[in-house]
Amino acid sequence: MKNRKQYIDNQKDRFISELFDLLKLPSISADTAYNQDVLDTAELVKKQLEKAGCENMEVCETPGYPVVYGEKIIDTQLPTILVYGHYDVQPADPIGLWTSPPFDPIIKTTEIHPEGAIFARGACDDKGQMFMHIKAFEYMIQNNELPCNVKFMIEGEEEIGSPSLEWFVKEHTDKLKNDIILISDTGMISNSQPSITTGLRGLSYMEVTVTGPNRDLHSGLYGGAVANPINILTQMISKLQDSDNKITIPGFYNNVEELSSEERQEMAKAPFSLNDYKNALEIKEVQGETGYTTNERNSIRPTLDVNGIWGGYIGEGAKTVIPSEAHAKISMRLVPGQDHEQISELFSSYFKSLAPKSVSVKVTSHHGGHPYVTPIDSIGYQAAKKAYQETFNTTPIPQRSGGSIPIVALFENELNSKSILMGFGLDSDAIHSPNEHFGVFNFLKGIETIPLFYKYFTELSR
Ligand code: BES
Ligand code: MN
Ligand code: MN
Repeated sequence: MKNRKQYIDNQKDRFISELFDLLKLPSISADTAYNQDVLDTAELVKKQLEKAGCENMEVCETPGYPVVYGEKIIDTQLPTILVYGHYDVQPADPIGLWTSPPFDPIIKTTEIHPEGAIFARGACDDKGQMFMHIKAFEYMIQNNELPCNVKFMIEGEEEIGSPSLEWFVKEHTDKLKNDIILISDTGMISNSQPSITTGLRGLSYMEVTVTGPNRDLHSGLYGGAVANPINILTQMISKLQDSDNKITIPGFYNNVEELSSEERQEMAKAPFSLNDYKNALEIKEVQGETGYTTNERNSIRPTLDVNGIWGGYIGEGAKTVIPSEAHAKISMRLVPGQDHEQISELFSSYFKSLAPKSVSVKVTSHHGGHPYVTPIDSIGYQAAKKAYQETFNTTPIPQRSGGSIPIVALFENELNSKSILMGFGLDSDAIHSPNEHFGVFNFLKGIETIPLFYKYFTELSR
């Protein structure tokens, strides 16, 4: 694979312009107004797979957005890598905070990316990272260096909780048969210290409605005599955590797997500066569960967060009103041992129990997903480690992430295969936020590292 760097260097402008074409399509799965753009993106991904040398491409129908499939089977005796990624993106809001339009990709330099970063919604999560795999594959095809079989499975509903994927995977277990799943949809510590994601948190996402009087009321005529649903909702929410920032839902921590002090000590070795962390977010102090470090709080510990809260009058000026309803979206990140369905039920009954008689409460559950942890003694991890060692000249650190990719646990259960999470994004890349970007260095480094994973995984599988 000695031509790798040269090939990438020669082709990088084309790689970037092809990625730009993908980033120009606003494939927002959450908003039906973008329905056609999501479908167009699936078609473009299919074309790109074909162009790179895939066979048997298909835009596979599902009850929701299609899954794009493509493969290259060179020898059924050889191992098969299944590449998973997603072509859908998060909504761009709040659009006013973008310094350039979210679907008009542009390269700008930043302090962390002096060689330039691609700014666009989806640049890092996950179009840019998914596209690295297509280009790494193109390189291997063009140079006759594909050492094993490959299957691509790129979905269009990840950002809305992959509602159709379970169906798709169960429907196509034979077609998706593989020896390892390879995913680039996470991050790493920094450009000089790569890391391999060994865990993802699970998720339980709830929505609550508190209803008081049957209509909005004059807050002078009724104020003080009738329950205000927003006041009540905020009181209820404040009871979900205690002064140690522990979640108060009875049974919430019952099955949480605790790490040994050796494992925690090992974790603490990863380079981390609390000062840089605070400065990057412009906060004076961090906050979280008593007894745990920042890196533990955002990876090995479960959490509860309000994602949105609304109700009453939020227009210009002042309107004196007691609203009839108040709403909130509340998510919980889960860790190994916790079952998202059970946690949703525990939340639901506890939240309802917090309501005074003066209001009624409705709790509904959105998507959920199971947490995932992968061992580092597997050949998949070892192959990834060797690949990074070669391209970064340093050993990658295993790190559990706080984010969620719920289908990873599903893959393990349905396809019986492990996932290797080779993410090349950085926390500062602002995924899901305004001004999302992906370093050009990271994009090209990913394309350079992926073929080595193929090589070492094939070698180690023998
Ligand atoms: N790629 C992210 C998950 C991620 C990012 C994991 C960085 C680790 C590091 C994925 O697209 C995502 O946003 N997942 C959602 C969950 C999903 C069910 C909407 C999340 O984590 O909020
Ligand atoms: Mn993603
Ligand atoms: Mn995402």
